[in-house]
Amino acid sequence: MLMTTKPMFDLAYAGGFGVGAFNVNNMEITQGIIEACAKEKSPCILQISKGARKYANIRFLRRIIDACVEEYPNVPIAIHCDHGDTLDLIKACIADGYTSVMIDGSHHDFEHNIKLTADAVKIAHAAGVVVEAELGMLGGIEEDVVGLDAHEYEKNVEKFLTDPEQARDFYARTNIDSLAVAIGTSHGAFKFKHEPKLAFDRIEKIMKTCPGLPLVMHGSSSVPKEFIDLINKHGGNMPGTMGVPEEQIAKAVRQYGVCKVNIDTDLRLAMTAKIREVFATKPTEFDPRNYLGPARDAIVTMVQRKLQMLNSAGKADAIIAHWKKQGEPMPEVYGAKV
Ligand code: G3H
Ligand code: 13P
Ligand code: ZN
Repeated sequence: MLMTTKPMFDLAYAGGFGVGAFNVNNMEITQGIIEACAKEKSPCILQISKGARKYANIRFLRRIIDACVEEYPNVPIAIHCDHGDTLDLIKACIADGYTSVMIDGSHHDFEHNIKLTADAVKIAHAAGVVVEAELGMLGGIEEDVVGLDAHEYEKNVEKFLTDPEQARDFYARTNIDSLAVAIGTSHGAFKFKHEPKLAFDRIEKIMKTCPGLPLVMHGSSSVPKEFIDLINKHGGNMPGTMGVPEEQIAKAVRQYGVCKVNIDTDLRLAMTAKIREVFATKPTEFDPRNYLGPARDAIVTMVQRKLQMLNSAGKADAIIAHWKKQGEPMPEVYGAKV
């Protein structure tokens, strides 16, 4: 069932679980995610980056997601814009029927970020769409924006974490629905040189300055060694990878206000490992169904593992009941004029 993230986060905040937000780029990835959610009776956020909109053509992606909504009425689904950077993109996403958008002004100065975010909130809320914003700077991709290398970022990480007092001001002046926080996670497969420790003390402080505000963790792939080994065994070359340990993510969603956990890299790894394995072990194979099919199965298994880790397995029915009880109409935003 299509909905905003609000009923998901209401229950996640109170119930000690996190909703997985998985990036979709094509049919097999989307099908793998939704099948896993159906098997685990879990909600999911299908998130679409600017790159995905361009790669797949949003009209195609939207129809794949429409099919998910029709085929899986018992899975709570939100469609989310990942790392939206302009108001024009936010407006386009709302017109395309997204139920949630991220406006990422974290690379701008504080006042600019507030203005951009507050404007996005006004536009989105008028259409019944919820808004995630970001404060602080994650590693992996975002440091490129300000010309830092990954090593410099890791050495000075404290400086880039979300400031709890700024978060208080930001929340009060923007009216956002959720906040992506920098607490030591990082995008991509090469996140850290050393085993990371998430800044739980920071999360605790942000929960105090922004009571009840659902928090979001980007860059939350764990980069499991077995998939890297499989990739490297079958012709890949990915030395020096490192992710966020799953125990730390499990702790963030169970004990703290982290309600949304973004995972893209681990799905890419699962898919790539399986395709490489098929190509290496069956050199005569040339039917795409025989490598994309196993890749899709690998996504199902990977997402099931994540849903269990996030403690969101089994929460689908309660979320749907909560959504209906709130009397929220199904978002009538598909094609809305903004
Ligand atoms: O945080 C970024 C996501 O992994 C999406 O990546 O921009 O390559 O689609 P992308
Ligand atoms: P990973 O690269 O850790 O999967 O993070 C994805 C993400 O944050 C998408 O916004
Ligand atoms: Zn991200």
